[in-house]
Amino acid sequence: MIILSIETSCDDTSVAVLEARGRKRPCFNILANIVSSQNEIHAPFGGIVPNLAARAHQKNLPIVLEKSLSEAKLKNKIDFIAVTVGPGLEPSLWAGVGFAKSLAFVSRIPIIGVNHIDGHIAANFLDKKNIIFPAVCLVVSGGHTQLILMENYEKYRLLGETRDDAAGEAFDKAAKLLGLGYPGGPVIAAEAAKFLISSPEADQPLVGNFQFLNKLKIILPRPMINSKDYDFSFSGLKTAVLYLVKNLGIEKTRNLIPNICAEFQQAVIDVLIKKTLRAAKEYGVKSILCGGGVMANKELRAQLKTAVQNELPDVFLRVPPIELCTDNAVMTGIAGYHKFLRNGADKPEKIKADGNLRV
Ligand code: KG4
Ligand code: ZN
Repeated sequence: MIILSIETSCDDTSVAVLEARGRKRPCFNILANIVSSQNEIHAPFGGIVPNLAARAHQKNLPIVLEKSLSEAKLKNKIDFIAVTVGPGLEPSLWAGVGFAKSLAFVSRIPIIGVNHIDGHIAANFLDKKNIIFPAVCLVVSGGHTQLILMENYEKYRLLGETRDDAAGEAFDKAAKLLGLGYPGGPVIAAEAAKFLISSPEADQPLVGNFQFLNKLKIILPRPMINSKDYDFSFSGLKTAVLYLVKNLGIEKTRNLIPNICAEFQQAVIDVLIKKTLRAAKEYGVKSILCGGGVMANKELRAQLKTAVQNELPDVFLRVPPIELCTDNAVMTGIAGYHKFLRNGADKPEKIKADGNLRV
């Protein structure tokens, strides 16, 4: 089956073409995955401006579609279109959903609406190999931080989520406080890496080095790290950065940016890993999955691998490739295929953008 998928839930315009095979163990061949980032548009504002995002999606969608189709060099017809319907920024979703529905209508192609979080989870299932259920999936993006227990691909439940800011949102807000621009995740990671590399104490491998990081002089809180539930809270961490900046003053802060970023990044990593591993142990899972833009963080990826190897050596860990963690339409296509196998196509009139859609 050939799937054309469209993702515009936030500030990335993405169109992918996938070839899907199999029912019981679906596997996918990525024929094209084009992502057009809007970072330059939103950077001056230190965050996403929804109306500007929608306008950019409208402009980019035909261009990205054309690029994707020409890269895919399709010989067979498209079997269905999968489009992200939510959660996300409503104006952004309207752009993608409207475009996909028009395309489906004029081309007479069936269409399927996909939940964006289902998409982030689906990024783990490009190939089902080695994934044994039950599994726990950590979804960490700009809008969500959730721990999800999966009994199988279809059946899952939310164990916990953030009570305030998402992990990615915390990266973005901390970066803004530090005057580092948008998006915050990659720039904080880059500053943190400078600190790790420049420090004379960094005698162990730079990536995944717990002990070394504990020697940092700047200490930020690890909110809810020991709470008995699986909820998260990152707004206090952002406020701690705010007070730190106020106390240090602009000049000192500027000199300590790599140090602050390394500690901030480590605070988020510590909480995410501790809770994920605790959930994995409590529910006796066989696999740990993850996804969302924050999983593009190299330290988080490396430290999660080390922690699973050390504490749960029999558990299979899948960390999707970076380009499938940040928003992309491949994951939308994978989730769409599973939904198509279950229920067939949606009635086009039923497909509506919903910014607050839940898993
Ligand atoms: O999943 P995603 O692409 O979009 C949403 O669904 O929100 O995630 C975007 C988030 C942003 O907050 C961004 O700062 C964060 O992912 N992010 C990162 C990194 N790359 C992107 N956070 C930490 N480290 C990174 N390397
Ligand atoms: Zn996302």
